Amino acid sequence: MSIHFDHTNMLASMVGEKNGLTAREIGGAGGAAKDALAGFRKLSEKGLYGFPHLPFQKDTIQEIRRFAEEMRGSYDTVCVVGIGGSALGAWALDNAMRGPHPVQGEYSADFPRLVILDNVDPSFIAAALDSMNPRKTLVVVIAKSGSTAETVATFLVIRDWMVRKLGKKANRRILAVTSAGKGDLKKLATAENYRTFHIPDNVGGRFSVLSPVGLVPAALIGIDIRKLSKGAAAMTHSCWQEDLAENQALRAALLHYLLLTRKGKTIQVAFPYSNRLWGLAFWFRQLWAESLGKARNRKGKAVHTGQTPVAALGTTDQHSQVQLYMEGPNDKVFSFWAAGRFPDAGRIPRNGTGLEAFDALAGQSLEKLIQAERVSTAAALTGNGRPNCTFTLDRIDEEHLGAFLQFMEFETAFAGELLDINAFDQEGVELGKKFTYGLMGRPGFEEYRERFEEYEKRRRTAGADR
Ligand code: PA5
Repeated sequence: MSIHFDHTNMLASMVGEKNGLTAREIGGAGGAAKDALAGFRKLSEKGLYGFPHLPFQKDTIQEIRRFAEEMRGSYDTVCVVGIGGSALGAWALDNAMRGPHPVQGEYSADFPRLVILDNVDPSFIAAALDSMNPRKTLVVVIAKSGSTAETVATFLVIRDWMVRKLGKKANRRILAVTSAGKGDLKKLATAENYRTFHIPDNVGGRFSVLSPVGLVPAALIGIDIRKLSKGAAAMTHSCWQEDLAENQALRAALLHYLLLTRKGKTIQVAFPYSNRLWGLAFWFRQLWAESLGKARNRKGKAVHTGQTPVAALGTTDQHSQVQLYMEGPNDKVFSFWAAGRFPDAGRIPRNGTGLEAFDALAGQSLEKLIQAERVSTAAALTGNGRPNCTFTLDRIDEEHLGAFLQFMEFETAFAGELLDINAFDQEGVELGKKFTYGLMGRPGFEEYRERFEEYEKRRRTAGADR
């Protein structure tokens, strides 16, 4: 298993001192990197943050595997009801291992598909229901809090649909993934006897892909979760190394931190050159944004920090975004994600046409073309003083994916330490949620309804309605 992080194009020697890092700048921050590692390790060993321990939870992994084996053959669709960290990991794994949407092809009891209901758009939910057969569907409702409005509302719709079609038997086709000791979902799951898997209290949503949140749906669609965890475990060992040459996640965190705080690179473009990695870019976007976008540092000082993650797909977005990336504001750092090898190189037929544009490519391969496009884009950006780096996954298989997910989570945790912020909370999301509860009439949230009405009044005075 090999994942390689190449930071050469982040160096001042490649993109100039204004946009890249000198050896002195990197060396000078070595102490801060060591402190970040030691600080995070202490918190993790204390049990405050649990994601580094997940790949070693053999009993949980075994229990999920056994359950998936028991159920195999009784469904052709796994329907996940969840949102944010409770949905994006499964979505990323599905894209990477089962094939990129929308070209996954036929599904069956031997090759079940994943349907993720992570939005309350009524047309989307209605279309999803139309496409599923309740007798062949397993519903997995996932919510750590057990009370997220979108998940709860969608689940009520799905549960009603199942019960109308299957009666009491519906409960046997519903699983819950939630906290062990709290939340209304846990209460409902107990009352209705759903098979339930628990999310450790010290694992937050966006860091939970290697907990039952990601592993249950993954195992149910046939992904080998033992290999996934094996790759993540190997990566965890490297992420505890002090040496920056060995600890690639710490090195990546440090360089992104320095580019953000010293060179004004406030945007990071995650740029996979593989449709199978495209789902991961959306998973990463949430991880990096929600973890690092913070108003205050740990001392309570207002910092309003963070690096805005953007997802772009190579080569597709070369024809959509690269003009801006090359010539627009120089406020970005680019992270190319490469697949070292594709399972099939995609030979381009040799048949000549006599036409230059066609004959130049005939007889070569799509793999050669996509790799050439990636290195050419990196070279062009570098030439224009735009820092970039490349993460290469030797292959896209379970082990590499597990390792990459863990790499990114460690990188995010280290970046949080370097920025001296709490990367594991998300207070900024809470106010909007409370307004929603107020507007939907949930008891205890009347104050937020009033605050919302106050806001509406201000809008009317400001003339926004006219
Ligand atoms: O990372 C997070 O904590 C969030 O994005 C949550 O995953 C998201 O809000 C969903 O929360 P829950 O699992 O409680 O429904």
